[in-house]
Amino acid sequence: MTTRPRQPGPNAPAPGKLPLPELAEMKRRGERIVMVTAYDAPGGRLADAAGADLILVGDSAAMVVLGHESTVPATVDEMLVLTRAVTRGARRPVVIADMPFGSFQVSDELALENAIRFVKEGGAEAVKLEGAGASLSRVRALVGAGIPVMGHIGLTPQSATMLGGFKAQGRTADRAVRLYEDALALEAAGCFSLVLEAVPAPVAERITAALAIPTIGIGAGAACDGQVLVWHDLLGLYEGRAPRFVKQYANLADEITRALGSYVAEVRSGAFPETKHTYAIPDEELAEFDAAVSEQVDLERA
Ligand code: KIV
Repeated sequence: MTTRPRQPGPNAPAPGKLPLPELAEMKRRGERIVMVTAYDAPGGRLADAAGADLILVGDSAAMVVLGHESTVPATVDEMLVLTRAVTRGARRPVVIADMPFGSFQVSDELALENAIRFVKEGGAEAVKLEGAGASLSRVRALVGAGIPVMGHIGLTPQSATMLGGFKAQGRTADRAVRLYEDALALEAAGCFSLVLEAVPAPVAERITAALAIPTIGIGAGAACDGQVLVWHDLLGLYEGRAPRFVKQYANLADEITRALGSYVAEVRSGAFPETKHTYAIPDEELAEFDAAVSEQVDLERA
């Protein structure tokens, strides 16, 4: 009897992929986890080459890629295209698709349908969804179906209007207690990790200590188990005012503008393209071509 070669199943990690349970082990060993957002195949490839553990295809794409004022307009179809591109570029990092506004709020069923699309069509290993409360039953439904879920509390941009804008959260004892309880509830619901956004560092530290799953901070201090930054913020590609928690590691906007400026100037001056940028044709072929063209011109004139 012949046996077929073993292929990874739909839920089995691809070869070379960081196994998801390794994240909790990293927390236990005190090793920091690195997450970065990405939105296309080169982004996935570069984040992988730099050694990132997790790549989030964030709905921040609505702002930094698609030019909207908030994350709310991002659609499932747009996020799917971006997710598919990132998963084509990233090998080792776990790719997490951010579920956009409207894709999980209505019901557990709709959340599950959309999460399945991110895994099947987008190739994501996991999804992220914002909030606690109603999101807890969504997390249970998704995890119950075998889809790993990352939670996200603190400043949740999809509900920024209700939160009074893009503001730090958990700055009073009551609100900090609510965040703490939400974090425990999300862990109990089955999240494998939790983003803490714009939360006072001492609050994030206590939440991190209370959880077995790793916390990934953005504006939540150094005691989180890992950190995430938005691609365009850390590389200096975003035009708007960056939040205080952003550290810019490069100024690619200036570099790109300089390079594009040189290109524009060289096209206008004729310095580009040079002979080395063009293709040759054998002399006899060119002579034949010239003869054919002049014959055609003569015929048109006759
Ligand atoms: O959409 C996003 O990029 C995010 C990160 C800021 C955590 O949710």
